[in-house]
Formats: sequence, C-alpha cells, structure tokens
Amino acid sequence: MRNIEVCPTPELVDLYGVEGKIVVVVDILRATSCMTTAFANGIDHMIPVAKLEECKALQKSGYIAAAERDGKMADGFDIGNSPFTYMEPHLKGKGIAVTTTNGTQAIVRSAKADQIIIGSFLNRSAVARYLRSQSQDVLVVCAGWKGKVNLEDTLFAGALVDDLKNDMNYDSDSAITAQVLYNVAKADMLKFLSNSSHVRRLKGLNITKDIEFCLTSDVYDVIPVMEGERMVAMKEVVAVESNGHHKSNGAKR
Ligand code: MLT
Repeated sequence: MRNIEVCPTPELVDLYGVEGKIVVVVDILRATSCMTTAFANGIDHMIPVAKLEECKALQKSGYIAAAERDGKMADGFDIGNSPFTYMEPHLKGKGIAVTTTNGTQAIVRSAKADQIIIGSFLNRSAVARYLRSQSQDVLVVCAGWKGKVNLEDTLFAGALVDDLKNDMNYDSDSAITAQVLYNVAKADMLKFLSNSSHVRRLKGLNITKDIEFCLTSDVYDVIPVMEGERMVAMKEVVAVESNGHHKSNGAKR
C-alpha cells in the first residue's frame, strides 16, 4: 500500500525526501489558498519564486507581481496575498509572478519531487481524489512559519491523511499527529485556530475575512500543479472517489 507522510516544515524536506513522490505543498494562510483561488478564477499561470528580487525581475519583464512578507504586501509590487484579490476579473487569463514568506519557499524546496501539486481546504477533496488515482507515495509539505511548525497547515495535512486513511498507509508520527489534531479541531477550526500565531498576526493587520474563507472545504475542484518553473491548472484528470468510483476531476470555477 502506498504511503502518505507529513513534513511539518520546509526545513525538514531533505529528511523526509521528495524524490519519486507527489508533494502536496500547503500554506493555508494564505499562499496555497490564493493559488487555488487564482486558478479557479481563470488566471493563466503563476511563477512562484523564493526571493523578492526574482519577483521584481519578472515584474520588469511584464508580469503582474504578487509579493507578501510577514503577512503584508511587499512595497513596490502589484498585489498582495489575499484570495479575494485573485477573484478580481482583471487577473483572468494573466500570468502572475508570486513570492510569499513561506509558501513559495516550500515549493522551491520541493523541486526534486516527481510532481508538486497545490493543496488547500478550498480544493481538499479534489486533491484527495487525484491522489487516490496515482501510484506514487505522497509527502505533504507544510509551509509553516519561517522554519517553525504552524497549526493551520498541520490541520490540512491531517485532514488529507484522514481523507486517505483507507487508501494509503500512514505510520509516521508526524502524519498521526496531524490526523489526531485535525480530528480534535474539525468541528470548529476557526475557533481552534483563534490563538494560533498566524491568525493573531493576520488579525493584527486587520486581515480577518481571509481566515474563514481559507478554512472552507471544497469551494473549488481545480488543482494547481507545477510544470517546470510554471504553475498551471491541472487539466482534466481521472480521479478516484473514496468508494472507488472514477470521476473526471473537472475544474469547478
Ligand atoms: C505564507 O507564505 O506563509 C503566507 O502566504 C503568508 C500570508 O499570506 O499571510
């Protein structure tokens, strides 16, 4: 049976290893929630980069540049990191360069994976269906906060482990911890996270509506996937429901 593991922060990626695996990068507040929303609302592609300087260079070459540091939009860029920004019609069909404090770092650090897909609560079941239909082991890479564990990414990892518990083996303490934590929190994740570090940080910036939206499951079916240096919306794929039935994973926009 295939294995699913949870890497609590990008700094531990080399310890868990990504080669030959499908990596699910998760940064619930808010990078991967933004990416999922962006593709569900029709952007053409994204180029995730680790450094502000790389994002600035892409901006100068004509890209719309999204940059966030410490929860705030970085000075001199075009857009920040709210999922509601990516719902705006003027971004439809566009290419966007993006760098965030943690989410894009996790993507860059997972580069040697067999495949990198983007997970969030917003596309949670679509991700689970897709993973059931594949053959590789899975590593959920939590973006965390500047090398430290955060609660919301761990909750998503636990939710995905729980969704796949009958389809995949999970025996690492990190996967078990994440699943237990999710089952403790799932009745009211917003309340459970009310004292978490990043929720407090975002609230301190008067960013509140993003939090509840990013914790909402299955708003979209689209799965962003890395193709080389570009992130695109995964094309129609055959996915497998928990009851074994196959379905087309059409993008619910
Ligand atoms: C991150 O990279 O950790 C997040 O994107 C930060 C944020 O958007 O607040």
